[in-house]
Amino acid sequence: MKAIAIEQFGDKNVFQPMDISIPCIEANQVLIRVAATSINPVDIKIRQGLVADIAPDFPAILHGDVAGVIEAVGNEVTKFKVGDEVYGCAGGVKGMGGALAEYMVADVDLIAHKPKSLSMLETATLPLVSITAWEGLIDRAKVQAGQKVLIYGGTGGVGHIAVQLAKWVGAEVYATVSSEEKADIVLNLGADVAINYRQTSVEEFVAEYTNDCGFDIVFDTVGNDNLQNAFQAAKLNGTVISTVSLSKQDLTLLHSKGLTLHLVYMLIPMLWNSNRTYHGQILSRVADLVEAGHVHPLLNSKLFSFIDVGTAHAYAESGTATGKIALKAAFND
Ligand SMILES: NC(=O)c1ccc[n+]([C@@H]2O[C@H](COP(=O)([O-])OP(=O)(O)OC[C@H]3O[C@@H](n4cnc5c(N)ncnc54)[C@H](OP(=O)(O)O)[C@@H]3O)[C@@H](O)[C@H]2O)c1
Repeated sequence: MKAIAIEQFGDKNVFQPMDISIPCIEANQVLIRVAATSINPVDIKIRQGLVADIAPDFPAILHGDVAGVIEAVGNEVTKFKVGDEVYGCAGGVKGMGGALAEYMVADVDLIAHKPKSLSMLETATLPLVSITAWEGLIDRAKVQAGQKVLIYGGTGGVGHIAVQLAKWVGAEVYATVSSEEKADIVLNLGADVAINYRQTSVEEFVAEYTNDCGFDIVFDTVGNDNLQNAFQAAKLNGTVISTVSLSKQDLTLLHSKGLTLHLVYMLIPMLWNSNRTYHGQILSRVADLVEAGHVHPLLNSKLFSFIDVGTAHAYAESGTATGKIALKAAFND
């Protein structure tokens, strides 16, 4: 099969077209004819060698998110059949090939039927970020109707789904953005208030929107040093969720405010082969929410083919892209 793989870590130029054998499937796996994938920050970190311990072996096929059509099923697979349109975050990490190829093997537990109303490109933007937002807000923070929820990174991959899930539950949703254009986007996604974090300090917006009390839940998708802002924005005994905590932080505010901090790491089921079924279940729920009009992906307007993956990574790294960057499975210029 055709694939775009890397044989060393490095910049956007390490991606190379290659011919690789179509992988064999085991009893609990399916072979997906890949239609599309999307870029997540972890794909870039793996390509750069920043998280080499979780990278697939060379030649490494990257990207976890996939949307496509089932080409073959293993002996024990009953939930899916050949021809089914599916999606999932199912590889591109240690021990598991990724989606930048004609075919991808997926553990059947990690996938779900694709939302019918979305294109393959739109669908491929959803899996990793939806699972992360779900695990953070629904499972860990147990968000409830009426709670004040602050989402840092409201138009980001995880953030734009978190905004919509919080709204679906009935929370009051506040989302941070860096521009007027992004403010319009989060309001269209359903946020009650957009907060330009470049123009308003934490003290100012906590005073304005919570009467100085703080938010019930703060979902911080920026992380590291921004965690201090998240601690500051949370109410006494409130909850903070982080997706990025690869730094040393002072826990004084966490202690003095009695906060609960949840750290989400959605790669665990793939890396440790633990409770993978739950990821397939989350994606089934998300597909239902898409069909019911509660969740819609924010797709970047630039479309790329697999052959252009290096350019697409550079665009994602530029920090100028709004919305998820999707790539179509095409291997020629
Ligand atoms: N642990 C896990 O399981 C897990 C899962 C998914 C993602 N992640 C990590 O979580 C992070 C976010 O992922 P993502 O896919 O949502 O990335 P993303 O699409 O790049 O979104 C990040 C958002 O953060 C905002 N931002 C950047 N700097 C900011 C600042 N100083 N203050 C407030 N907002 C800021 C950006 O928008 P503005 O224009 O508004 O600044 C952007 O929308 C990445 O580091 C990723 O690796 C971890």
